[in-house]
Amino acid sequence: MGEKKKFIRGFATRSIHGSNIAKGEHAPVSTPIFQTSTFDVKRVLMGAQVRPEFIYTRGGNPTTREFEQKMADLENAEMGFAFASGMGAIAGTLLSLLEAGNEIITDNEVYGGTWSLLNHYIGRHGIKVHFIDMTDETQIEDTINEKTRLLYMESPMNPTLKLVDIKQIVRIAKEHNLITAIDNTFCSPYLQNPIDFGVDYVIHSCTKYIGGHGDALGGITVGSASDIIKIMPESMDLGATLSPFNAWLFLRGLKTLEIRMQRHCANALSLAKFLESQDKVERVLYPGLPSHPQHELAKKQMRDFGGIVSFYLKKGTNVTEFVKHLEIPAYTVSLGDADTFIEDPFNLSHFSVPRKVKKAVGITKYLLRVSVGLETIEDLIDDFENAFQHL
Ligand SMILES: Cc1ncc(COP(=O)(O)O)c(C=O)c1O
Repeated sequence: MGEKKKFIRGFATRSIHGSNIAKGEHAPVSTPIFQTSTFDVKRVLMGAQVRPEFIYTRGGNPTTREFEQKMADLENAEMGFAFASGMGAIAGTLLSLLEAGNEIITDNEVYGGTWSLLNHYIGRHGIKVHFIDMTDETQIEDTINEKTRLLYMESPMNPTLKLVDIKQIVRIAKEHNLITAIDNTFCSPYLQNPIDFGVDYVIHSCTKYIGGHGDALGGITVGSASDIIKIMPESMDLGATLSPFNAWLFLRGLKTLEIRMQRHCANALSLAKFLESQDKVERVLYPGLPSHPQHELAKKQMRDFGGIVSFYLKKGTNVTEFVKHLEIPAYTVSLGDADTFIEDPFNLSHFSVPRKVKKAVGITKYLLRVSVGLETIEDLIDDFENAFQHL
């Protein structure tokens, strides 16, 4: 008999099937929602030897656990812990791992909410945060000192679509015995698996591509079992727990993640190419375009280039007039939905970031970020073409 071939199932199969933690004996195809805050654990009084896994939903719930396990699997991690929002996941993870006196290093261009959390809250608790350009190895090396504990990344970044070289940052972290964490929201597990590059903690705002339909807030952190266990107790105490209903919505979202991501990426590339051909456009930022300064790195560490396209209108263009004439996209924050969204990070998603910082990283009044949805691409391009004609 020949050697048994290891059969690794494809991403879509794993995102549709997978764990059966919450399914029970009736084998429903759709995971049941355990809509309960607490569980009767009387069996403990009857002499049960094993502590029940589920006691109170803030610490664990079968529907949520099934979602955590599936996300861990899709990220090539061992375990996950879900939160009420992406910010809940970032805050829970960082607050569990850091203490007063520690220092962390991140990039100037992280998501506005994360920037605000690090600056206003984490900074106030005796943890020093260094905002640098993480594409510059020398800056990272120069910033590390004996108090540094963690390197925190995003790639691609929001809204400038700058990438960091994940492998390079993991190498530096390992040399200095530091923890690494990454916000992988823009990619979803379909486009990038940072665990494969050696990252310790992978965080998602599930509000975006995981849910995919703009109807639920949630977040998750995945990693090795020993690393996730380190963040669970304090995260439970902080109380930003994912609701079982939202866990169910995310399990449903995961079933179509692969085909949605494929369409998001195809639509985004077409729109990016169209925008690059427009007179009123100064510059398009999209990792899938050869004009992106890190296109080669994107090809190496991402499977495709994502659904977000940012672009600068030429100085002096009436940005409001342009956005007003777009019929299909909603003018709003958030991303990763079936619907296309457009926003000006200067006024919306990065409102809380001081002007000085925005200027330094290129978030000007002329920068627009599009979360390209799943609509018919010809309609989207027609809509943008029509808005350009009004300028
Ligand atoms: C990259 C990124 N990370 C985290 C968050 C925060 O997620 P949530 O809104 O689910 O708290 C966002 C929200 O826009 C985001 O864009």
